Amino acid sequence: MRRAKISIIGAGNVGATCAHWAAAKELGDVVLVDIPDKEGVAKGKALDLACCGPMERFDSNITGTSDYADAAGSDVVIVTAGLPRKPGMSRDDLIETNVKIVRSVSEKIAEHCPESIVILVSNPLDAMVYTAWKATGFPTNRIVGQAGCLDVARYRAFLAMKIGCSIEDISALLLGGHGDDMVPLPRFTSVHGIPVQQLLPESDITECVDRAKVGGGEIVKLMGTSAFYAPASGSVQMAEAIIKDKKRILPCAAYCEQEYGIGGYFVGVPCILGANGVEQVVEIKLDSEEKSLMDESISHVKDLVGIVTNMFPDLG
Ligand code: NAI
Ligand code: 2OP
Repeated sequence: MRRAKISIIGAGNVGATCAHWAAAKELGDVVLVDIPDKEGVAKGKALDLACCGPMERFDSNITGTSDYADAAGSDVVIVTAGLPRKPGMSRDDLIETNVKIVRSVSEKIAEHCPESIVILVSNPLDAMVYTAWKATGFPTNRIVGQAGCLDVARYRAFLAMKIGCSIEDISALLLGGHGDDMVPLPRFTSVHGIPVQQLLPESDITECVDRAKVGGGEIVKLMGTSAFYAPASGSVQMAEAIIKDKKRILPCAAYCEQEYGIGGYFVGVPCILGANGVEQVVEIKLDSEEKSLMDESISHVKDLVGIVTNMFPDLG
């Protein structure tokens, strides 16, 4: 059987950790791509990870490179290239630098991996997904952004800590852009089928929602740079759903036209992810408060895309 091939662009914290999770799950062969100046880092991390194989018992080939030709034939490409935020910065502060990086990386992906499904991770996420869509010219089902898997995992983790129960039993949904105005949805949150409102007072649920919204910032303040274990785990969860054609329903930044009244932008919504990438955007009925929070988040995403198209009118 042919092994899947996963290329990861950017061999930094998130990229290398994606390679780690992908190899540990034996999802396929992994190629870590970075700029020529960082080729040694990409090769070194790949070699270090490959040497885990005998102990962790995976047979994936892991290679590092700065040559996109090595990524040819990839089934999935995960884009983590770009600056991470530092304390005091918002994700949006990265846009001017990262849009240039993501544009050039996307053009290379289109040239060398024309059949791949691309998962964007670089921030500000929703604007970078849009940039990659325009710069690759790929159909919308093959361009998707990772944010919701991470954000909902943070929300679930905080709820489990508060309740004192297993994380496995917490099921939750989250919508919107990857900003502090993301929309965790308590009405769609349950603990082994029990509505969360029956287990926690409203104030505790609100605390978990608010902590999830700024969860990235909490880690930046602690570490001085942005999170990478959970972001990489979210990205590889999506790659796994695609490679194994699992048809999982996961919150992803997906292209929405009439769905949720979004009108042609990539925003976090529940999607069915399978071998064809985003196979369906799942629409749920929101109440008026949820809808107004979602509309606010969508409007923020549109503002960010406006910055991209002002910088690069040909991406409009
Ligand atoms: P990092 O600085 O550790 O790694 C970034 C890597 O990208 C570096 O190795 C750099 O050399 C490489 N790079 C830069 N330009 C490149 C190019 N043109 N081609 C190939 N590689 C290039 O940063 P980290 O922590 O890995 O974060 C990466 C990105 O992911 C940041 O933009 C960060 O904000 C974003 N992020 C997104 C999350 C999400 O949930 N969507 C969560 C965490 C981080
Ligand atoms: C995070 O949420 C910074 O997007 C990154 O951790």
